[in-house]
Amino acid sequence: MKVAIAGGSGFVGRHVVEALRARGHVVLALARGRRGVPLGAELLPCDLARDPVPTGALRGCDALVNLAGIKREDGSQTFEAVHVEATRRLLAACGEAGLRRFVHVSVVCSRPDPRLPYHDTKWRAEEAVRASGLDFTVLRPAVIFGPGDDMVTHLVRMIRFAAVFPVVGHGDSILQPVDVRDVAEAVAAALDRPRSIGGTYDVVGPERLTLHQVVRTVAEGVGLPLHIVPTPIPIQRVAARVMDAVTSAPLSTPAQLQMLVDGLYGDTKPARRDLGLVPRPFTAESVRALEAAIGPLLGGSLRLVDRRTHGEWVAAHRPAFGPAIVLGLWAWWWRTSGTAWRRVDCSCPRPRSPSCTWTGGRSSGRRGATSRTASRPRPSFMPRAPWWPE
Ligand SMILES: NC(=O)c1ccc[n+]([C@@H]2O[C@H](COP(=O)([O-])OP(=O)(O)OC[C@H]3O[C@@H](n4cnc5c(N)ncnc54)[C@H](OP(=O)(O)O)[C@@H]3O)[C@@H](O)[C@H]2O)c1
Repeated sequence: MKVAIAGGSGFVGRHVVEALRARGHVVLALARGRRGVPLGAELLPCDLARDPVPTGALRGCDALVNLAGIKREDGSQTFEAVHVEATRRLLAACGEAGLRRFVHVSVVCSRPDPRLPYHDTKWRAEEAVRASGLDFTVLRPAVIFGPGDDMVTHLVRMIRFAAVFPVVGHGDSILQPVDVRDVAEAVAAALDRPRSIGGTYDVVGPERLTLHQVVRTVAEGVGLPLHIVPTPIPIQRVAARVMDAVTSAPLSTPAQLQMLVDGLYGDTKPARRDLGLVPRPFTAESVRALEAAIGPLLGGSLRLVDRRTHGEWVAAHRPAFGPAIVLGLWAWWWRTSGTAWRRVDCSCPRPRSPSCTWTGGRSSGRRGATSRTASRPRPSFMPRAPWWPE
């Protein structure tokens, strides 16, 4: 079979190309060409948001898989153009080229809601496919993990960067992360199994996890301690908007944040029944397999000790822990007893220095504050404190 893949150069596209080639299919990838050519595929450069689809190139194809999509708008790359108009162009081109089999990859949270352009345009693209009269299958994945993904990559970077993680809300939204290999298998199975024609399938992981559990699993995979802190959603929205405005690769786009707020989950049974999909779970082991290829955030980390050397660091510095604790306690005593002595001292009415800070009821804490009493010279047994009035 010769299969055209719109969006074949992206994260999911590359895995789909691999899965289809492994089954002996020939692949033609359609994309603007910003991310290079996926291994083993021919690339047909084409801006689906603006240009007509080269129908001639589709004539020899037996099926088309649509994976073209964006997470943030940028110039002519609007949700409307890439999700809705590009899908309509592809459907029209398939009609013209006599290509009947169309597999459309959407997202499990798509729904009609004009206030949420990402969700709404994904939904309208699905509806256009269902109304096309072609032999379609719609696949609706949840958040996808695998080499080159957004989810694990961003979480690993943030967890390595700092020991505190601001989770969206209370972290109780529900996710069913799905392995990118399972998404690619689902596409390949849809092409192989006529039973899936006319069907819409959730392609989701086997377990429902809270966002908190997902973050905890990633931290476990990375092997770093983490404090997960609930963060009000409005604050996260502001942060996502700021990141979206200042960088082309934000940690989370407003559309992705909304998906995390709503949750990404679905029903595994129809895909299991018709596509034979048995999804892999999302575990710390899955994270470990991806972690090595993930670079640092902003080129560094606020964590003082690298996890790989953590055990060695503790062992090497253990002898210093006792003296450090004693020193800390002494410093604490030095400071508090100094204050206490100053208070006692200031309570003695001997007009000698104007620099006493105690004013009769409470200490102003300010050196040189007005005083109605005076201080004594520092007793010789007292440590020299910076605030001691000489
Ligand atoms: N990643 C996830 O967690 C996830 C979850 C659920 C659903 N999905 C859906 O799965 C699909 C693939 O996602 P992904 O993560 O692989 O996205 P991706 O890595 O951003 O890839 C998107 C693909 O679309 C192509 N594309 C974008 N604009 C285009 C245009 N104007 N004309 C032609 N091609 C264009 C890109 O190539 P160029 O940039 O070179 O044009 C790229 O090949 C999307 O529909 C997405 O909504 C993804």
